[in-house]
Amino acid sequence: MDKLRIKGGHRLEGQVRISGAKNSALPAMAASLLTPDEVVLENIPLVNDIFTTRRLVRELGVAVEFEPDHSARLKAEKILSHEAPYDLVKTMRASVLVLGPLLARTGYARVSLPGGCAIGARPINLHIKGFEKLGATVRTEHGYVEAAAARLRGSEILFDKITVTGTENVMMAAALADGRSVLQNAACEPEVVDLAEMLNKMGAKVEGAGTPTITIEGVRELKGTTHRIIPDRIEAGTFLATGAITNGELELIDCNPSHLSSVTEKLRETGVNIEITGLGRMKVRGSEDLRAADVVTKEYPGFATDMQAQYMALMTQAAGTSVITEDIFENRFMHASELMRMGANIRIDGARAIVTGKTRLSGATVIASDLRASASLVVAALVADGITVVDRVYHLDRGYEKIEEKLRSLGAQIERLK
Ligand code: EPU
Repeated sequence: MDKLRIKGGHRLEGQVRISGAKNSALPAMAASLLTPDEVVLENIPLVNDIFTTRRLVRELGVAVEFEPDHSARLKAEKILSHEAPYDLVKTMRASVLVLGPLLARTGYARVSLPGGCAIGARPINLHIKGFEKLGATVRTEHGYVEAAAARLRGSEILFDKITVTGTENVMMAAALADGRSVLQNAACEPEVVDLAEMLNKMGAKVEGAGTPTITIEGVRELKGTTHRIIPDRIEAGTFLATGAITNGELELIDCNPSHLSSVTEKLRETGVNIEITGLGRMKVRGSEDLRAADVVTKEYPGFATDMQAQYMALMTQAAGTSVITEDIFENRFMHASELMRMGANIRIDGARAIVTGKTRLSGATVIASDLRASASLVVAALVADGITVVDRVYHLDRGYEKIEEKLRSLGAQIERLK
């Protein structure tokens, strides 16, 4: 298993290009199942979750080719299998995103039920309820969800709780249903908007994405398209945190600052300087005198749960006490104990982490428990005294493209140990 070896204490400087959003590319690849025509996706991030999805859609019958320029061609002329097997779903929960498209295109899908994961139980009951509302019969047996419907019918669906992939899954299914669907309490994340835009280019009639009410007028068929994936706002936020914590000066290129408002507002509150420097560009300048600031994770446009761990690393270097409340997932503080092993002063009290800074961090061998937890350990390692070895880097490789190369180009001392 690969590890990262990081020698802390270097100020990061320079420009870094932000990759395409993993969480947009995943549903976009699943959406290619909705049409027999070719779909071209540009700005695909070359990360392991995308390679897992490539394997999955290939098994379902999609011809997929990745080009060196980060584009992918997908053609689902015929669906050859209706099943997302356990061995793929267990490595990547987002595999469940093929359920909606398969059901809508072929009338049947069988997907292994994802279990809990390091950050919480993460059920898919709301996806299932949405498909049932669209007229599907859904059974759960032998660890698999099976959904069937001769033809889906448009319906009014009220999500009890906001779910990102649930909204995406049901939106893809409703795009090929008979009649109109209205999704209430839908997720407003930019990735949902990106998917809606792609579906509309394929001939779907989706309105209201980015608001809590999405209306979808079902169509008989969808056609191919070319679509460019939006920039990864969480990768961008992670680089803002690295610039801030190392008291560095970084310019992010090919990002979308408007998707990062809650993160930039919060970082400014802590004394970090952030400026928009042009179209798709922003600059972060750290500070030696960071101030503590509380945060509560919320659905978009609130502060993303996917930035909570990196923010916690930053707050270990801020003067004062910050209360970080995790409001989306029930168990997303696994990084706290590893940060404490590096010298951080953190107390967990239910859904709140109370971080008192500024503490000196010292390099240690730490273990990553999930993607964003790994990112927070890398952020912390950049200012720790001495050497930090981050184990289980495969978590990081699921969602960050060439992270060590990008950090090294900014002046970090980081190497991958095979
Ligand atoms: N939930 C339910 N029932 C459902 C679905 C969700 O109770 O049927 C609950 C979850 O347990 C959680 C909350 O609703 O407490 C929100 O979960 P959501 O469904 O929105 O999460 P997700 O769609 O599974 C996506 C991202 C995550 C990100 C969350 C929250 C993708 C592929 N994944 O997951 O990204 O943390 O939204 O913003 O889009 C990551 O990239 O590291 C990552 C974990």
